[in-house]
Amino acid sequence: MKNTVQTIRKQKEEGDKITMLTAYDYSTARLMDEAGINMLLVGDSLGMVMLGYEDTLAVTMEDMLHHTAAVARGAKEALVVADMPFMSYQTSVYDAVFNAGRLMKEGRCNAVKLEGGASVCPQIKAITEASIPVVAHLGLTPQSVNAFGGFKVQGKSEEAARRLLAEARAAEEAGAFAVVLECVPARLSELITKTIAIPTIGIGAGAGCDGQVLVYQDMLALFTDFKPKFVKHFADAGSVMRAGFAEYIKEVKDGSFPAEEHSFKIDDEVIARLY
Ligand code: KIV
Repeated sequence: MKNTVQTIRKQKEEGDKITMLTAYDYSTARLMDEAGINMLLVGDSLGMVMLGYEDTLAVTMEDMLHHTAAVARGAKEALVVADMPFMSYQTSVYDAVFNAGRLMKEGRCNAVKLEGGASVCPQIKAITEASIPVVAHLGLTPQSVNAFGGFKVQGKSEEAARRLLAEARAAEEAGAFAVVLECVPARLSELITKTIAIPTIGIGAGAGCDGQVLVYQDMLALFTDFKPKFVKHFADAGSVMRAGFAEYIKEVKDGSFPAEEHSFKIDDEVIARLY
């Protein structure tokens, strides 16, 4: 059964934790969908883990459309959320609705995610009114890395914590159906989760959120440039892949691959006539 905005909301009501992972391609989306993931996020983190940029700022609408369409083709049951890239919604409410519309129409996502609180509430409201569900993203919002002066935990002082709580309320009021909380102290996330009716999905935000999200290259040890404190390696797929690549190189070099079972046959007489 396809997960929807309504089923995700019901999970919060029933205390059933919401599971979300990032995905950027068809095959990975298929595997995660088969494993029973509730939501797939085509994150603009693809700029870092797929494209090798040092932050998410260079990611374009075309990048997002390309990857979102691939993930949407692979997701039979998971609800697909596409990130709105930097400067695709900050510039105006019109741009926000236009670009969210493209992600849904051309990328075939089921919802969009955008970063920021009160300042983007007009965008959240307008996109929602255009019948495109919105996930808000609060706390450490990577598109603001230059304004933050780095990737830092947010909401630690009383003033910052109050602001975050108010932004979560504002996002809910504007129509967001869920909120991602990134790098927020666990007890503050817990309070936000109790305060708002819509689900909170945490990343580095403790166990008190209604759900969790991780970048899949992080949780499978595929991306090893750096490891944030909140990342757990659930499998070492990086080592499995490295060993597979090394074995392939060895077998091609020593001639043991391809073997007879990997090769196609032709009648001896046909070959003989060619000599
Ligand atoms: O882009 C992304 O992967 C994200 C997650 C870190 C929540 O926004």
